[in-house]
Amino acid sequence: MSDIVTERSGSILRIQLNRPAKKNAMTSSMYISLADLLNGAAADDQIRVVLWHGAGDSFCAGNDIEDFLKNPVGPGESPQSRLMKAFINFDKPLVAAVHGAAIGGGTTMLTHCDFVYAGESAKFQMPFINLALIPEFGSTYSIPARIGHIRAAQLLMLGHPFDAKQAAELGLVTQVVPDAKLLAVATETAQKLAEKPMGALRACKRLMKAGSRAQLEQAMSVENEEFSSRLRSADAKEALAAFLERRPPNFTRSSGAKTPAKAS
Ligand code: COA
Repeated sequence: MSDIVTERSGSILRIQLNRPAKKNAMTSSMYISLADLLNGAAADDQIRVVLWHGAGDSFCAGNDIEDFLKNPVGPGESPQSRLMKAFINFDKPLVAAVHGAAIGGGTTMLTHCDFVYAGESAKFQMPFINLALIPEFGSTYSIPARIGHIRAAQLLMLGHPFDAKQAAELGLVTQVVPDAKLLAVATETAQKLAEKPMGALRACKRLMKAGSRAQLEQAMSVENEEFSSRLRSADAKEALAAFLERRPPNFTRSSGAKTPAKAS
């Protein structure tokens, strides 16, 4: 079974992250598949809306931490940057249904969705700093822009976890729904969108995104450089190894000096 599965229902393309044993953590190949699916959906006249969700008990636990250690992402072209570009260019409605853990990229990738339905079980967190990394997918721009610097600092600098209700209060999700109804509610919205005049809907989305497109691209480019450098730091290696070894990290051994990024 593939790590990403898709199903067409009329003009709705349903994309499911399907790596439940690893909480749908994203491997390099999953970023590439997801980017290709979005680019393909954008070019396919038969697809009008994309609905995105996760298999098992979680939406997505972010980047696969083992993959990070084995294939550290570089500052330039990467599977992650390919998906970022696909998100930026995607002008059809993207609806997400989120339940359980949505951690790291599992939260930041959602900033590129138009509708985010959160099941009551949804637990969000952007713990990048705890891993000696920095937030990605443009979130250092988009999260403060949406919720203000003070509230963003709690989520991005302290890495505060937050639940579905708090996410809705912050304006990071559309609506909180009981888990049992999550997919049905998201599908209902996808269906409504699929019935709209597509040319106008796509133009509307492009215009809604136009005001922040340059800032988002700039943020992603700078984030990718910084991320790549941080990922190679002693602190990040310690934090990522500690997660896999199920122990607390010990950051007292390194100076925190910046490590130069290498091309991927
Ligand atoms: N990368 C790689 N593997 C991951 C993962 C990730 N991001 N998140 C979870 N897994 C793996 C675990 O290592 C474990 O694998 P194993 O069964 O082979 O040991 C499996 O998924 C189940 O995870 P576990 O931690 O046992 O489940 P849990 O229900 O106790 O906790 C999470 C679930 C998502 C809260 C927890 O796994 C977590 O915090 N993951 C890391 C998330 C993170 O920091 N992501 C940011 C990356 S930038």
